[in-house]
Amino acid sequence: MIIWGSKSFKAECGFIIAYLLRVWKIFLFLRLTLSSSIVEGKTKPNCNVCKDIVSNFHKGLASTAKSNFGGGNTKWEEKSLKSYAISEVRLVEIMEHLCDEGAKECHSVVEEHEELVERYWFKEFAQKRDTDFYKYFCIENMKACCPNNTYGPNCSQCPGDVDRPCNGQGYCQGEGTREGDGKCNCNSGYRGDICEECRDGFFEESKNDTHTVCKVCHIACKNTCWEGGPKGCDECKDGWLVDEEQGCIDVNECLTDPCEENQFCTNTQGSYTCFSCDDACVSCTGAGPDKCQECSSGYTVNQDTNICQDTNECEEDSSLCQGEHLLCRNKPGSYDCQCESGYQLQDGVCIKDGPETESVNNDEINTEINNETREEL
Ligand SMILES: *[C@@H]1O[C@H](CO)[C@@H](O)[C@H](O)[C@H]1NC(C)=O
Ligand SMILES: *[C@@H]1O[C@H](CO)[C@@H](O)[C@H](O)[C@H]1NC(C)=O
Ligand SMILES: *[C@@H]1O[C@H](CO)[C@@H](O)[C@H](O)[C@H]1NC(C)=O
Ligand SMILES: *[C@@H]1O[C@H](CO)[C@@H](O)[C@H](O)[C@H]1NC(C)=O
Repeated sequence: MIIWGSKSFKAECGFIIAYLLRVWKIFLFLRLTLSSSIVEGKTKPNCNVCKDIVSNFHKGLASTAKSNFGGGNTKWEEKSLKSYAISEVRLVEIMEHLCDEGAKECHSVVEEHEELVERYWFKEFAQKRDTDFYKYFCIENMKACCPNNTYGPNCSQCPGDVDRPCNGQGYCQGEGTREGDGKCNCNSGYRGDICEECRDGFFEESKNDTHTVCKVCHIACKNTCWEGGPKGCDECKDGWLVDEEQGCIDVNECLTDPCEENQFCTNTQGSYTCFSCDDACVSCTGAGPDKCQECSSGYTVNQDTNICQDTNECEEDSSLCQGEHLLCRNKPGSYDCQCESGYQLQDGVCIKDGPETESVNNDEINTEINNETREEL
């Protein structure tokens, strides 16, 4: 009644808000004190979902770090809310974004475990206790995650050294979560219960109680080796020969001419590849018309450059295309006889185009004219 009589509208609103907050606070207090175990009987989320929530919680802390009530603080605001930093208002703002970019199940998880966040806020954070939210929320209370280097429902220790499980060369299945069987998944090259041995194709470069270092065998080794390099192989791969000095050495298969006549050979590590010769060559030693051993028919070797060049049959023998309106046209490696423009070859003779092909010829002429015009321009 006093409120309605007040002259300041702001003060009226302020009073209502302060009143509601007080009710809310009492409600929270009752809920927190009466529910001793607020996690029991609730769904346990996946550890990653929990981690995302924690990450968003920290983001929320950061983004609200400099917020306040947007100015215009009145006495009651300062008095009833004490400090924004540990206020419900700030918590509500943070909680609104706990599932940003989160998994689908995040919303139900946050909803179900809202009290846990609130409890952390008021009993730990607001009390300036140095409690880590991830540890509090995901590991200890929600029991969704485990401390580092532990796994499974009871957070059992991963195999191997406490600080370096799986010899540091693999990861323990379920590590950091309430899942998995704790078996070591070894990195490439490693095997064994705690990744303490080298896989075939690898050799042990060094080993002591806590560390094993495996390195890959040389490409020349068939399977296993006892040290690096081609000398370390227990056996050479196919395509490699044993040499007393050098260990496994590559066989140059090309020396035995394994390719077809119109191909050339390139030696590779442990094998060889055949490539086709240039069209200008019958046989060759490499790619291109300058690597011919013999020119293909229709090509002649240029004595200066040693390149097999196309023979211009039309120039060499003017009698090649005999017949009226018949023209000789050179082609790579050969030639053909074609009728002049405006004529068509029929049964070996060139005859003038009939009306049915006229349009085609007109097009050709037009193109020619266009080209000439273009050149003039
Ligand atoms: C746990 O492991 C993560 C990632 O490997 C690391 O960032 C974090 O600092 C570790 N936590 C502790 C308490 O050692
Ligand atoms: C976890 O601990 C409980 C109780 O101590 C025990 O019964 C259960 O077998 C343990 N589970 C695993 C996977 O170690
Ligand atoms: C084992 O070897 C690693 C490096 O390979 C080394 O850092 C470590 O100190 C060694 N540990 C012992 C006990 O010799
Ligand atoms: C016209 O010129 C183009 C390129 O500029 C050429 O491809 C085409 O063969 C020429 N046409 C004629 C009929 O000369």
